[in-house]
Amino acid sequence: MSRLVVVTNRIAPVGEGGPPQGGLAVAVLEALKEHGGVWLGWSGKIVETLPDKPRIRRYRNNLTVVELDLTQAEYDTYYLGYANGTLWPAFHYRLDLMEFSRPNLDGYSAVNRRFARALDGLLQPGDRVWVHDYHLIPLASELRALDISLRLGFFLHTPFPVTQVLLGVPWHRNLVEHLTAYDVIGFQTDRDVAAFADYLASEKHGQVGPDGEGEAFGRKFQVQAFPISIETSSMIKQAVDMEDSPQVRRLKAALRGRRLLIGVDRLDYSKGLVRRIRAVERLFAVHPQFRSAVTFMQIAPATRGELHQYASIRSELEQHAGRINGAYADYDWMPIRYISRSYSRRTLAGFYRASAIGLVTPLIDGMNLVAKEYVACQDPTDPGVLVLSRFAGAAQELDGALIVNPYDFEAVGDALAGALEMPLDERRDRHRVLLDRLKRWDVTVWRRAFEAALAA
Ligand code: ADP
Ligand code: F6P
Repeated sequence: MSRLVVVTNRIAPVGEGGPPQGGLAVAVLEALKEHGGVWLGWSGKIVETLPDKPRIRRYRNNLTVVELDLTQAEYDTYYLGYANGTLWPAFHYRLDLMEFSRPNLDGYSAVNRRFARALDGLLQPGDRVWVHDYHLIPLASELRALDISLRLGFFLHTPFPVTQVLLGVPWHRNLVEHLTAYDVIGFQTDRDVAAFADYLASEKHGQVGPDGEGEAFGRKFQVQAFPISIETSSMIKQAVDMEDSPQVRRLKAALRGRRLLIGVDRLDYSKGLVRRIRAVERLFAVHPQFRSAVTFMQIAPATRGELHQYASIRSELEQHAGRINGAYADYDWMPIRYISRSYSRRTLAGFYRASAIGLVTPLIDGMNLVAKEYVACQDPTDPGVLVLSRFAGAAQELDGALIVNPYDFEAVGDALAGALEMPLDERRDRHRVLLDRLKRWDVTVWRRAFEAALAA
């Protein structure tokens, strides 16, 4: 059987404890569990001198992990600089936060070249190579320059921005040309496919046909939406297993019978956390019956802390949480709990199940797996309600959720009141529809769909 070779910037800690953070690592690990394969990416280490060869670790289930280190200069230019200082804000519609410098772009290109050379030494005839996310867009061009003619696929976990936004990104034409060096270009939603097709057409580089067959820069490729998903059955099982765990019992004891609203995110400006907390403030201000009756728990570990765009989010959130707690707390009730650490997936599953509302309100998000995890973890006989931003990719599939505009935090606050008052029958009906979708389209179906396109 031909091997699946996955390339990502970050490799999740495999079998070494420590929960992976970020939808990409979570989904890739689950995708590789089935048949094994090779996973190449950055080790997470920054070194003074690069080793001669990548470190190769072999795990159970025929999984081989190939780790590459970065130098400080590579980390600063490739990861912090161009990937997370230029592309991430731009792809999340924040051109105001985007920064650009030539040395960062050079670093980005050089690391892609180095990843390609490392891969070149490992690839075997028949391998299917699946590259992930905005850090590694030029990888296919670098592999083609090394005469590699294997089928190459790319999946973008973030949104693909509309043309007017993409045009603001320095080097946008090269980025899109690099994308077209892949045989299959996968996006999260049809909206992203349409944005990509629109860019090609309006910049007169090529076109995408009705069945996703694309042609641009003298190349042919397939473009398609593959909405990423979760391992639904194992998530359900974990939630059931954890229902009576010490962690969930302690959480419930601390809540003293109050209902729980939960948010789980990396501490990223795209996640809409400040507006979310203001929506909760609105709930307490305008719907006083919920004071002392519900608690909002936001779990948000820091991410990409060296970038100044991330520096103020935490203090801003803490300020709002402090202000709201100051205004509404009572001697036996704290309205908002802000937690900046990670939890294991099992513990999170238990926390989701214990929550009456899952609050997922990004200003924009490629997909958002937390929304799907929350649904999978509910008790079908007494499910909680998912309050979901219309700007999360997940909203395209999960229309049984309460869909909100995250910019209108007053309306979100009112939607929270509606969710807390929703009759059991309606909660069950909505949950059934959502769970049905997640059972039919889980991470395995996602991976198979992409692999089928890559093999075609
Ligand atoms: P992103 O990829 O932008 O981080 P997603 O919602 O798609 O957003 O994926 C986040 C993933 O990381 C989910 O699987 C979620 O369970 C996990 N995660 C996020 N925050 C935490 C946390 N504090 N502890 C453990 N896992 C987390
Ligand atoms: O899923 C989006 C994503 O940017 C992944 O590419 C990334 O691995 C994850 O979020 C976490 O971010 P980082 O690797 O920068 O900590």
